[in-house]
Amino acid sequence: MINMSDAIAKPTSLDSEKTVDVRSLLEEIEALKVQNEELRSKLMDVTLENNSYLQTIQKFQEQLEHLRQPPLFIASVIEVNDDFVVLRQHGNNQEVLAYKPGDVEIEAGSRVAVNSNLSIVRVLSKPVDPRARVMELIEAPDIDYDMIGGLDDQIREVVETVELPLKEPELFESIGISPPSGVLLHGPPGTGKTLIAKAVAHRTKATFLRLSGTELVQKYIGEGARLVREVFQLARDNAPCIVFIDEIDAVASMRSYDGSTGSAEVNRTMVQLLAELDGFESRGNVKIMAATNRIDLLDQAILRPGRFDRVIEIPLPDEKGREEIFKIHTRKMKLEGVNFKKLAKMTEGLSGADIKAISMEAGMFALRNRETRVTMEYFEKAYEKLIESEAEEQHRMFV
Ligand SMILES: Nc1ncnc2c1ncn2[C@@H]1O[C@H](COP(=O)(O)OP(=O)(O)OP(=O)(O)O)[C@@H](O)[C@H]1O
Ligand SMILES: [Mg+2]
Repeated sequence: MINMSDAIAKPTSLDSEKTVDVRSLLEEIEALKVQNEELRSKLMDVTLENNSYLQTIQKFQEQLEHLRQPPLFIASVIEVNDDFVVLRQHGNNQEVLAYKPGDVEIEAGSRVAVNSNLSIVRVLSKPVDPRARVMELIEAPDIDYDMIGGLDDQIREVVETVELPLKEPELFESIGISPPSGVLLHGPPGTGKTLIAKAVAHRTKATFLRLSGTELVQKYIGEGARLVREVFQLARDNAPCIVFIDEIDAVASMRSYDGSTGSAEVNRTMVQLLAELDGFESRGNVKIMAATNRIDLLDQAILRPGRFDRVIEIPLPDEKGREEIFKIHTRKMKLEGVNFKKLAKMTEGLSGADIKAISMEAGMFALRNRETRVTMEYFEKAYEKLIESEAEEQHRMFV
């Protein structure tokens, strides 16, 4: 009989050595695995780094490529024919004929880049005209003279000075006087200066350029003088033209010479403006209009003869004027029992802009009450509100 216990092999010392071996091998494998992981991640890092170097190299290669290329020239397209275009090179103004590339849209006036063989390499985007940023080209705004109340004399003067010479220059020639060169409108805020300019723009077929003095000095710091020059150039290119400089006090105020950088800049802009006004001796078809509500701040230089030949005051409306303005701003309203005479009386000292505000507010009051007509009561309420808010404003300014 076999003794079972004998059959089960007792672990010999050799066996136990083997077990230790396997275990240490397993451990070694684990360690290697970890090491492998580490190396792999290191490799990853290095590959990434390598990639970024490769990219840098590529960038340098591209730059080198660019540097090796002959420079491109800029030209304007003058004329486009079936398969060629007439170009004028910037700088030397030479005109050349070039083949028209088949795959791009080219029109007269486009800017293109040409290589030294004068073939078109690419079409450049239209240049953003810096002039277009400061000025608005006003195309016949919806304002006519009949929407301006109480300023008949002033309007007549503006028409004589600005509109007439553009429309009928021969009138002035036949009588032997040179038409006035420019007009300056001045008066308290909200009295209709900008409004008159808009009406002039509406009336004439001339190009109307509006330049805001405030924007010129606040938004386009450092560019003022250049922009003034460019606007006047644009005016000459587009004659007959009216240049309207609104809020001219921002540019031409004598307060500005305090020696600071900002004032030096405003000063430069102003010098340029004066130069343009003078240079317009023979400006013929370009008329200058300007407006300000602070004529007291204007530098005397701007008021010298030959610059603005006519200085027209736009005063606060008188009683009759206020009545007219009320009528203008309520033209489209449904009214009931509104006494314009009384309104005109009680609004002594208010401007056209105030009257407009009262009329609108009266309408709003009626609307809020779901009324179909605006009555005198609402106008009175609106007037009181305006007076109150003005008093508050005053109070705030002095506290
Ligand atoms: N005489 C007027 N007749 C009719 N409406 C007027 C009159 N004056 C002013 N208004 C109204 O007031 C608004 C502001 O007027 P406007 O912009 O012409 O004032 P301004 O004289 O240019 O003032 P600012 O000096 O502040 O620039 C106009 O849009 C218009 O609706
Ligand atoms: Mg104005």
